[in-house]
Amino acid sequence: MVTFGARAVDPTHFAAFVEGFQLAGYRFGKYKSEGEAPAEVTELVLVAADPPAEKTLTALWESIEITLAGVTLARDLVNEPAAVKTPTYLATLAKQLGKEAGIEVEVWDPKRIAAEKLAGLMAVARGSNEEPRFLRLRYQGEGAKRRVALVGKGITFDSGGLSLKPAKSMETMKCDMAGAAAVLGIMTALGSLKLAVDVEAFIPITENLPGGKAQKPGDVIRFRNGKTVEVLNTDAEGRLILADALTLAADSKPDAIIDLATLTGACMVALGNQVAGLFANDQALADRLLAASSETGEPLWQLPLVADYKDDIKSAVADLKNIGGGHAGSITAALFLQEFVGTTPWVHLDIAGPAFLEKGLPYTPKGGTGFGVRTLLRYLTTLAASA
Ligand code: BES
Ligand code: ZN
Ligand code: ZN
Repeated sequence: MVTFGARAVDPTHFAAFVEGFQLAGYRFGKYKSEGEAPAEVTELVLVAADPPAEKTLTALWESIEITLAGVTLARDLVNEPAAVKTPTYLATLAKQLGKEAGIEVEVWDPKRIAAEKLAGLMAVARGSNEEPRFLRLRYQGEGAKRRVALVGKGITFDSGGLSLKPAKSMETMKCDMAGAAAVLGIMTALGSLKLAVDVEAFIPITENLPGGKAQKPGDVIRFRNGKTVEVLNTDAEGRLILADALTLAADSKPDAIIDLATLTGACMVALGNQVAGLFANDQALADRLLAASSETGEPLWQLPLVADYKDDIKSAVADLKNIGGGHAGSITAALFLQEFVGTTPWVHLDIAGPAFLEKGLPYTPKGGTGFGVRTLLRYLTTLAASA
């Protein structure tokens, strides 16, 4: 419960304070015997010289609660062990969330995935005994004039596949579905925020494991848009499943595509774990996201899509290869993705750093952070208001 004191502060400052307070109180206590319970706020009294109307504050509080629920969902899903959050588990959960939030959710099983020629998702999933799933979610806001496609990387565990990661690097790889988790958090929030936008989400989900049927370095994949890719490193799996999702997103002809992906270790080397990399083929769209990010305090830093580096992803036997030349790994990964969006305005957010923290920050406890949920909801809110 929040009690508004006789005096309050600027409503936006109030909102930021309450939001930060709640974000900081998050704990993932589910598997603790003693229970490290979240520091739940039961009462918060603010006192200030010139109080805004209680109606304004109540409306703000409602939107904060919805946003926080989206962030908490994303954090919980990222923190959940991979043994639990299998592709089928996430699909079932999405269905249930969709029902509660009034969002359409379509789940594609392996048969449908094959029929839709989602070659990247099939290739990555071959190494695992868990079946992959592809999710399509849709929120159609009343009076919407803009349509945005969201794409989230959903690798529920990234072992690297046959290009196996060292044990240490694997410790945090349950986080490799943080893009998918953020998109699910955003979509459920949209159901309650009632924004005048049309948002469609495309979420490929699979494990990346080195089972007996796993794809092998040197294999060639043919994608649904006809492009062929030589897989030289099975640990660069994110771009393979995103290629499918981005192609579908572009086919639906939205005004903008935004993808969120824990895509490269190279982005962490460049920007650390507090800043995500932003890549764009459209500066106006990039600027909108950068503006939203500066309001929410989820830092984004734009990196260039250096056209000359496209040579690094050329293959001797196929149209493309799935790794670059060793330098600028987050740029060559983004250039690979760009091959699948055509001319649709597109932003790629490489959230490998800030999606998961091994050491907590003041209002982001360690583990899953829900990075991107607040910024994209801010972007969509502004877009709905301006369109
Ligand atoms: N999921 C990883 C990227 C990652 C690293 C996310 C650290 C979060 C924290 C991705 O699939 C990956 O393994 N990328 C490789 C690409 C390389 C093989 C070209 C990487 O970054 O090393
Ligand atoms: Zn990988
Ligand atoms: Zn990965």
